[in-house]
Amino acid sequence: MSDDDKLIKGHDYDGIQELDNPLPGWWLATFYITVIFGVIYYAYYTFLGGPTSDEELASKMSVIQQERQASQETLEVKSEDYFVALLDNEEVLAAGKAEYTAKCLACHGDKAQGLIGPNMTDPYWIHGDGSVSSMLQTARVGVPDKGMPPWEGVIPEETLEAVVVYIYSLYGTDPPGAKPPQGEQVERK
Ligand code: HEC
Repeated sequence: MSDDDKLIKGHDYDGIQELDNPLPGWWLATFYITVIFGVIYYAYYTFLGGPTSDEELASKMSVIQQERQASQETLEVKSEDYFVALLDNEEVLAAGKAEYTAKCLACHGDKAQGLIGPNMTDPYWIHGDGSVSSMLQTARVGVPDKGMPPWEGVIPEETLEAVVVYIYSLYGTDPPGAKPPQGEQVERK
């Protein structure tokens, strides 16, 4: 076909003319594929019971919930006596101090005297009763609203235990520059 045959008649703009060329095959193929995809997609999500975004979210969240529950169940509940006995374990205290320095010092001060976070050497507690078990629980879940990060999954459980045992060992040290009491006074058992 010569260019003359493909000329679109009556299209002449200031001497510029157009040819009626067929669309390239790859372009048409892509176009038809998107049309077919669109029809299938629409039918699946509109008539054939495809999940809504809310349903997809709910099913993914339930998987997360199940895994979380499973990990809580396998978590061995250790007694307060077990933790208190660790106060004599130099290795545990050293490991706890090292992790404390790396992860907690910035907010709780180098001697746990309090800074952004509360003083943890005094008998006043916002969460729990100052026992190792209660500190461990607070440290695991954090207090996100108040700027205390959750450490579960960030610090391995055993290391986190060492950190709170170390903090517990600082009780009553009355460090200089201690932050004024926050929370309720508790009786140390
Ligand atoms: C980004 C700052 C920040 C870091 C880092 C941080 N904390 Fe905290 N922490 C806080 C704040 C703020 C609070 C007070 C929360 C409130 O007011 O309810 C707090 C509270 C606590 C409490 C409860 C204190 C109470 O009086 O009841 C414990 C226990 C605790 N943190 C342990 C830790 C441990 C262990 C680490 C390190 C692994 C750590 N925190 C790291 C900011 C921090």
